[in-house]
Order: sequence, then structure tokens, then C-alpha cells
Amino acid sequence: MTPEESAATLHWLDAQPRVAHAPPTDLSAVVRGRALFADSARAGCATCHAGAHLTNNQMADVGTGGALQVPSLVGVAAHAPFMHDGCAATLRDRFAACGGGDAHGVTSGLAPTELDDLLAYLEAL
Ligand code: HEC
Repeated sequence: MTPEESAATLHWLDAQPRVAHAPPTDLSAVVRGRALFADSARAGCATCHAGAHLTNNQMADVGTGGALQVPSLVGVAAHAPFMHDGCAATLRDRFAACGGGDAHGVTSGLAPTELDDLLAYLEAL
């Protein structure tokens, strides 16, 4: 593509509406999950997934095979499979081996209920 075609394509992509999804069934789980996501002393997700588009647009190596651009998480639940190689069939799988472990947000110390809260938040984005 020419630079003009590339810019026009990106503009079109950015203008696409987000996929509609049902409102969360457990709003308090979403609120707890959002707090964990933002807590730099715990999961620390917002270090990279920050701002309106939930990405700082930086490159980062999160233990999945090299430095990659931090993806936006807006509407993330709508486009399984997850991770650059599609290794996570579900959002929960992103927290298993293929998601990069504690190099990708510190989640090994989370209680199962806290992981459920984080998933509720991701599903609501
Ligand atoms: C150091 C920066 C960094 C931190 C901290 C971080 N991420 Fe990521 N995240 C990335 C990068 C880079 C990728 C792309 C990795 C890949 O695809 O292999 C990614 C991918 C993802 C994806 C998959 C997106 C998709 O479209 O497939 C999800 C979901 C995600 N991160 C959630 C989280 C959560 C939840 C946390 C906190 C527990 C977190 N991330 C912490 C950088 C980060």
C-alpha cells in the first residue's frame, strides 16, 4: 500500500464500532476486577494496557516469544482466540501457560475468586 492508502485503511479501522455485548451480570465483580487490573502492586495490567484504548502502544516482551506491541483490550472478549499466536482459546486460558506467566502481569498470587473478578472486568471492556 502507498502511505496514503495505509493511513486511510487505519482511519477506517479506527472508525469501526465496537462489537456490542451484553451488560455484565455481576457489576461488583467488574469493579473489583478493574481495581486489580489497575493496582500496580498486584496484577499491574494498567502499566501497559493504559489509557482510553487500554494500550500504551509500546513494545513489551511478556514471555510469549519476543517483544510485541501492547494490544488494545477494548472489546477484547469478542475476538477469541487470544494472544498473537491464538494460543488462548478463552480469556481464562490467557492466564494459563501460553499467556506468559508473571512476565505478563503478576497473576500467580491471585486467589481464584480474584482471577474471576479480573475475567469479569476483561469481559466487560
Ligand atoms: C509489560 C506490559 C504488559 C502488562 C503488564 C500486561 N500486558 Fe497484556 N499484553 C501485553 C502484550 C505485549 C500483549 C501481546 C502478547 C502476545 O500476543 O503474545 C498482551 C496481550 C494481552 C491479552 C491478549 C489480547 C488479544 O487481543 O489477544 C490480554 C487479554 C491481556 N494482555 C491482558 C492482560 C492482563 C489482564 C494483564 C494484567 C494481569 C496484562 N495483560 C498485563 C503487554 C502487557
